[in-house]
Amino acid sequence: MCGIVGYIGQQQAAPILLDGLAKLEYRGYDSAGICVFSPDGFCVEKTKGRLSALSELIDDGKAITGTLGIGHTRWATHGAPSHENSHPHLSTNGKISVVHNGIIENYLLLKDYLLRHGKTFRSDTDTEVVANLIEYYYEMDGDLLCATRRAIEKLTGSYALGVLCIDCPDSLIGIKKNSPLIFGFGKGENFIASDVPAILKYTREVVYLNDGDMVVFNSDSAAFYNALGEQIEKKPEHIAWEMSAAEKSGYPHFMLKEIHEQPKALRDTISPRIRGGRVVLDDLDLSPDYLRGIRRIYIVACGSAYYVGCLGKYILEKTCRIPVEPILASEFRYAQPVLGDDTLVVIISQSGETADTLAALREANNLGARTLAIVNVVGSAISKAAHDVIYTWAGPEIAVATTKAYSTQLSVIYLLAMYIGDLLGTLPEAEYKSMLKALQELPDLLSSVLTTEYLDHIKHLAGELYQNHDVFFIGRNLDSATCLEGSLKLKEIAYVHSEAYAAGELKHGPISLIEQDTLVVAVAGVPELFEKTMSNVKEVKARGANVLGLTTEDLEGEIHKTVDRYLLVPKTHPLLQPSLNVVPLQIFSYYMALARGCDVDKPRNLAKSVTVE
Ligand code: G6P
Repeated sequence: MCGIVGYIGQQQAAPILLDGLAKLEYRGYDSAGICVFSPDGFCVEKTKGRLSALSELIDDGKAITGTLGIGHTRWATHGAPSHENSHPHLSTNGKISVVHNGIIENYLLLKDYLLRHGKTFRSDTDTEVVANLIEYYYEMDGDLLCATRRAIEKLTGSYALGVLCIDCPDSLIGIKKNSPLIFGFGKGENFIASDVPAILKYTREVVYLNDGDMVVFNSDSAAFYNALGEQIEKKPEHIAWEMSAAEKSGYPHFMLKEIHEQPKALRDTISPRIRGGRVVLDDLDLSPDYLRGIRRIYIVACGSAYYVGCLGKYILEKTCRIPVEPILASEFRYAQPVLGDDTLVVIISQSGETADTLAALREANNLGARTLAIVNVVGSAISKAAHDVIYTWAGPEIAVATTKAYSTQLSVIYLLAMYIGDLLGTLPEAEYKSMLKALQELPDLLSSVLTTEYLDHIKHLAGELYQNHDVFFIGRNLDSATCLEGSLKLKEIAYVHSEAYAAGELKHGPISLIEQDTLVVAVAGVPELFEKTMSNVKEVKARGANVLGLTTEDLEGEIHKTVDRYLLVPKTHPLLQPSLNVVPLQIFSYYMALARGCDVDKPRNLAKSVTVE
């Protein structure tokens, strides 16, 4: 949600800002703007809509001269997407220019105060308050650093800020709390950005700022300060991944590329954690005694990561015999969860920045639970705040709709389940070995699914079904959780109304919605429940439904008797089957979205990294 880039160096800033913002498009936005310190003062250009419109407006940046600037993609919160509400925002006298990611919760109070002190406002945003507040303090003593510090002390909420001052033509300030911001060390140039891809072309040496950190920098040096205003040393981290990881590399969409990257992502996440025929979680600092004392596990997350948690319930309860409760992060904090030192709270997040998830994690920490985060982005806020972290090695995920991060999160659940189950003695050795074998084979099995022929088949099905307006996903047990993800994918990128139900629940209400030709996707991947799911399929077929079935290859001879169309996946260990079942659903949504003319990688109203609550 919102992307920030800041640059100071020897090169022209505008093209670098535009390029950086393009790399942050995945975060979701509805307007964009830049402010460059030009020879005539601040040159601000902004516009509603796509970044391409801004690029066109300023001739790909060539129309603006200057080597210092800030840029922003805005996902509207306070005020509609419009020219006025786009960032950067200037203060009343035009001396301060600000870009902001986050929400200033007390902005109305501050606005009122500033209005009474002669400041004026042109937008509906909370951000303009920040620009005016810095100006207000700056006018008192002419010290920008001090004014920025005083201003942020008055803010409640979340912010990553880039700040320019007309009196400081060779410096830029970055500061953050509860929204991501990194600093990049270049040679004769320096950067701030919301995420690494924005600056990876120029530098691999980055600092992930902590909450309260401020960086004041010019083209050759940077001074870092902590929340107390003390100057601190920051060592850069080296980013090892290649730029191609954040580019489409010949694929028409990031989503399709990331679907194809799943076998590698799984291999990278699983392989280093299997040694000598055992799951080894070096990442964890959980003692065997602690694990033996766990009485309950919460899995806290949002969106698809939450649906991994729903699968995690079945998998962990079966292997560890500990009650597991998946709960949405936005609900967790206000549910007064019963936590203590015998509760493990597992937090799942691709970005590691999701505001609700981060807030839930902090609440769990405060309430005395042990927290374990499963995170994809190294150095993210969630990875820093949790007691333990297991990284998914999915690489950068750019498409808003997650695929490879979901798959790797699920693979970490398997690793964790086997690790704890083994330790507690609740997972018999033969079962452990069988899961381990299946886990090691999973990347290759997944590769075997991702053939051109298979994708073409699903594309063909989508071509026949894309006009459906209402889709019902049904499945039992693990499949009911896979259905939640399949349904979300279809909503997110194809804008098709869809719902997911445990198949046995249909007759308790939703079946009244089944009409002639209503599309029902029936996932039947749990062998012992196949017949029961087929009974539910018959119930909807009796009411006119058009059924797309999904099961394992060995059941082809059975499923074809009941459904109208079907998709098959290879059979694996029953607990690992969801890893394969979800893939055709991802591909189906992708082709449904294409058939419906949707912007697959940047679906309307959605953001990849949801940094507001
Ligand atoms: C957004 C994304 C989803 C993601 C969810 C949680 O809604 O579009 O794909 O599952 O946020 O994000 P996180 O980064 O915490 O996994």
